[in-house]
Amino acid sequence: MTQVAIAPSLLSADFSRIAEQIAEVDEAGAEYLHLDVMDGRFVPNITWGPKIIGDLRHLSAKTFDCHLMIVEPERYVGDFRKAGADIITFHYEATPHAQRLLTHIRSLGAKAGISLCPQTPVAMLQDIIDDCDLVLIMSVNPGFGGQKFIPRSLEKLREARALIDARNPSCILEVDGGVGEENLRDVVEAGARAIVMGSSIFGSGSPGETTRRMRSLAAGV
Ligand code: DX5
Ligand code: ZN
Repeated sequence: MTQVAIAPSLLSADFSRIAEQIAEVDEAGAEYLHLDVMDGRFVPNITWGPKIIGDLRHLSAKTFDCHLMIVEPERYVGDFRKAGADIITFHYEATPHAQRLLTHIRSLGAKAGISLCPQTPVAMLQDIIDDCDLVLIMSVNPGFGGQKFIPRSLEKLREARALIDARNPSCILEVDGGVGEENLRDVVEAGARAIVMGSSIFGSGSPGETTRRMRSLAAGV
């Protein structure tokens, strides 16, 4: 039985019923709530900031998995930590000093995550893998929910799995974008242990039931 965390992405949730939607996936056993922060600069879309995350914090005790798709993430990680983020993941492509930022996030008491866009090779993590608590492989170009999974991402997951196993086995390997029932097994087999799912969970009509099904499918791999 494989230990896999399911991370429903609130990007695809209905915010007019957010308390109810969070309760559904929480009660269904989702380990993380994935919160996509977008600034309209690093990615061509805008979502929410620390205020909203702080308000949502009261609705669930699950791990708040904050995915920052913003330029100059070093300016804001303190605010996201104060708002209640448990994992803070920034983009390798968004800052010149990734190692410093990973260390800083850890010093705030959060897990430090780094994410790679589809064009960034896993090899870029070679010299900073010791400082990572989580590696997030983007399997779509960040910015929007509901996009198609980029097949090459499976090879990137295998490469990241090998690097993590060799150098920092407690580091979590996460995948984000275009994952649903049809390719869940593939990403788990490739080494992912935290699976972000937005449209496949919240677009399903029954987020709770879908979360339960995904959890049992992932555990069975
Ligand atoms: C995209 C976000 C994802 C998004 C995934 O930039 O980082 O977390 O919610 O959505 P799906 O699962 O629909 O591809
Ligand atoms: Zn995300």
